[in-house]
Amino acid sequence: MKFFIDTANLDDIQEAYDLGVLDGVTTNPSLMAKEGITGEQNILQRYKDICDIVDDNVSAEVISTEYEAMLAEGKKLAAIDDKIVVKIPMIKDGVKAIKALTDEGIRTNCTLIFNAGQAILAAKAGASYISPFIGRLDDICTDGLTLIEQIVQIFDNYEFETEILAASVRHNMHLIQCAEIGADVVTCPLNVITGLLKHPLTDSGLEKFLADYKKGNQ
Ligand code: E4P
Repeated sequence: MKFFIDTANLDDIQEAYDLGVLDGVTTNPSLMAKEGITGEQNILQRYKDICDIVDDNVSAEVISTEYEAMLAEGKKLAAIDDKIVVKIPMIKDGVKAIKALTDEGIRTNCTLIFNAGQAILAAKAGASYISPFIGRLDDICTDGLTLIEQIVQIFDNYEFETEILAASVRHNMHLIQCAEIGADVVTCPLNVITGLLKHPLTDSGLEKFLADYKKGNQ
């Protein structure tokens, strides 16, 4: 299972990378805005800075919603670095753009997937990744994890090469359940990744080991 971090914050990306478990980064326009990054040049520079930290898989999202413009923007983003994966929304022109970019050897991540039909369409178009949003489905009283199960089953049936990138992962149980179900990738904030470290019995056990060592080695 791959771990991506879902942020445009360089410190968080560096911290997850330094942990040695990071396989990539996802961003979106909201995450860029959260970091106060505005204007095309600043946004492109932030993608470059992210690519300088991680080894691969940096999702950079297009703003255009019309086919030709998405294609041009996708190519511009892909030209930043070989690590870039162009993130395209699940709309009609987006599906066409995924097909065209894939045909040119550019990797894509189809975002804003909320049902299995959208996932099938994006996979048929050749997306490298599809991003079903678990948390946002949970927010509207629909089980996001059931969608991941459904897509895993469908992609297994047809041996689609498209990877299932579980997005909008909000807490540790989302991540663990995605692993049980067999999602290829999860993307989540730093606190969800570091949250995996925590258990009170680990803390108390370590405290006792160190205290016993100290007693015997005074
Ligand atoms: C990732 O690609 C998505 O943009 C992100 O996971 C959305 O998460 P949110 O629903 O917490 O904003």
